[in-house]
Amino acid sequence: MRVLLAGGAGYVGAHTAVALLDAGHEIVLLDDLSNTSALAAERVSQITGRPAPLVVGDASDESVVAATFDEFGPFDAIVHLAAFKAVGESMEKPLDYYSNNLDTTFALARVGLERGIRSFLFSSTGTVYSDPSDLPFTEESTTSVDLSNPYSKSKRMNEVVLADMARVNPELDVTVLRYFNPVGAHESGLIGEDPSGIPNNLMPYIQRVAVGSLERIGIFGDDYDTPDGTGLRDYIHVVDLALGHVAALERAQPGFVVYNLGTGRPVSVRELIAAFERAVGRELPKVVLPRRAGDVDATYCDPSKAARELDWVATRTIDDAARDAWNWQSRNPQGFASA
Ligand code: WQD
Repeated sequence: MRVLLAGGAGYVGAHTAVALLDAGHEIVLLDDLSNTSALAAERVSQITGRPAPLVVGDASDESVVAATFDEFGPFDAIVHLAAFKAVGESMEKPLDYYSNNLDTTFALARVGLERGIRSFLFSSTGTVYSDPSDLPFTEESTTSVDLSNPYSKSKRMNEVVLADMARVNPELDVTVLRYFNPVGAHESGLIGEDPSGIPNNLMPYIQRVAVGSLERIGIFGDDYDTPDGTGLRDYIHVVDLALGHVAALERAQPGFVVYNLGTGRPVSVRELIAAFERAVGRELPKVVLPRRAGDVDATYCDPSKAARELDWVATRTIDDAARDAWNWQSRNPQGFASA
């Protein structure tokens, strides 16, 4: 297949690009580099020995998407990963999150349909599930637009849009992948999570503390209704997540379908920090801080539908993720800027 990866130079994008190339597919990356570096595309090519052309542009601009099809098309599929994704940041910048995370979908879907793509795969999130009594979340668990933060709301809105798009385009495969918490890095240490500025997410924050560029880990609350009082999440190794995209594309069927991509194993903040301390072989400085607005006690999934229908299972552990994340961060102390 020939695949356009929107947001393809990002953390999940670059790992998905490697997995697609390793599986024998062709890819083109479209990315505005707002939260990554052009170097990621070069590293994808270095890892796979295959071409990973990068178009630097705004995926919310239909003329940019059309020009990408003109130059590099036709494409069999679009994988839409072009979104802002930090829960905490979305509380402070709602309009940025709604406009970017929806306008990219409108532009990619319109041009993709005009140019005759067969598959549209959308990066969604497990944070669209709204009723904690449903845990572990299945694809049939209650979702809502009335969620705790604009990031999650924008993703649920996208799913509603895509379901209606699929209804009037019955020949199109529309697949929604609800990610849980991606962590880790490719074993080569050449690509990994490298958010701009101070990381909003836990794992890249731990990575920066371990490499010395941040002072200490802040634990956002230890009074949650969980075994050790810290938040529970379903941390999935980003390589497992990338392989889930390949499986979803290769087994895509016409219509609208949703899959959870997670491990099904809830892990606490303290447990993730301990896994990272095992990877680096020393304790890391940490302090308990007040809860962060928008956070929930726990979110983790039942991944059995993807296992059944995609023949896909996450096999890597949080120790694998910590080891691989540390390998990336220690080889690239300033991320891609280290090069
Ligand atoms: C995880 C836990 C925090 C930072 C995710 C991501 C992204 C998205 C889904 C798919 C929580 C705690 C965090 C810190 C902390 N993926 N924490 N100190 O909030 O689950 O959101 O949603 O779309 O993976 O945005 O991820 O890493 O920010 O937080 O204690 O410095 O770590 O309270 O319990 P979150 P996160």
